[in-house]
Amino acid sequence: MRRAIYPGSFDPVTNGHLDIIQRGCKLFDEIIVAILINPEKTAFFSVSERKEILADVLKEIEQGRCKVVVDSFEGLLVQYAAERQANAIVRGIRAISDYEYELQMALMNRRLEPSIETVFMMPAETYSYVSSRLVKEVFQLGGELDGLVPPLVDARMKEKVKKG
Ligand code: PNS
Repeated sequence: MRRAIYPGSFDPVTNGHLDIIQRGCKLFDEIIVAILINPEKTAFFSVSERKEILADVLKEIEQGRCKVVVDSFEGLLVQYAAERQANAIVRGIRAISDYEYELQMALMNRRLEPSIETVFMMPAETYSYVSSRLVKEVFQLGGELDGLVPPLVDARMKEKVKKG
C-alpha cells in the first residue's frame, strides 16, 4: 500500500494541482490531499470551503484505481504524514525557481523524519506558470480563468465575491 500526502494551501485548487494529483495516481495507491491550516495567512477561501471545493472537483477527474482523499492538517507536515502512515510527500515543481524552496523543505522534512521520501513531480507545460496566487490576482483584476482552474472553482470564486 503506497500512500502519499500532497500538501499545500490549495487557495484555490488549480488545474496544475489536479494534473499533479493525476500523475501521482500512477505512482501511489492513495493520495491524501492535505490542506495546511495556517491562521497567519489571510485566505480567499476558508479551509472548510477549500475542502468542499477539492472534494467536488476530484469527483470529476480520472483517478484510475488510486484513492484520493481530502483532509486538513496543522503543525509539522512530517508528523501528520507519519500519523497517516504515508510513505511519501508529493510536491509539484513548475520551474527552477520553485526548486530552491522545495529542496530546502524536502531536506528539512527528511532530517525531521528520514522514513518519508519527498517526490517532486512536473505538471504539464501548459500549467507551468499557473499558481493559486496568480489565479487570485487575475480574478481580482477581472481577468478570465478559463483553463487555469476547473469551472466549479471559477463559479465558487464569483459566488464568494458576490456574497461578500
Ligand atoms: O501550497 P504551499 O503554500 O506552497 O504549501 C506549503 C506547505 C503546506 C507544503 C508547507 O508550508 C508546509 O509543509 N507547512 C507545514 C509546516 C511544516 O511542516 N514546516 C516545516 C517544513 S520544512
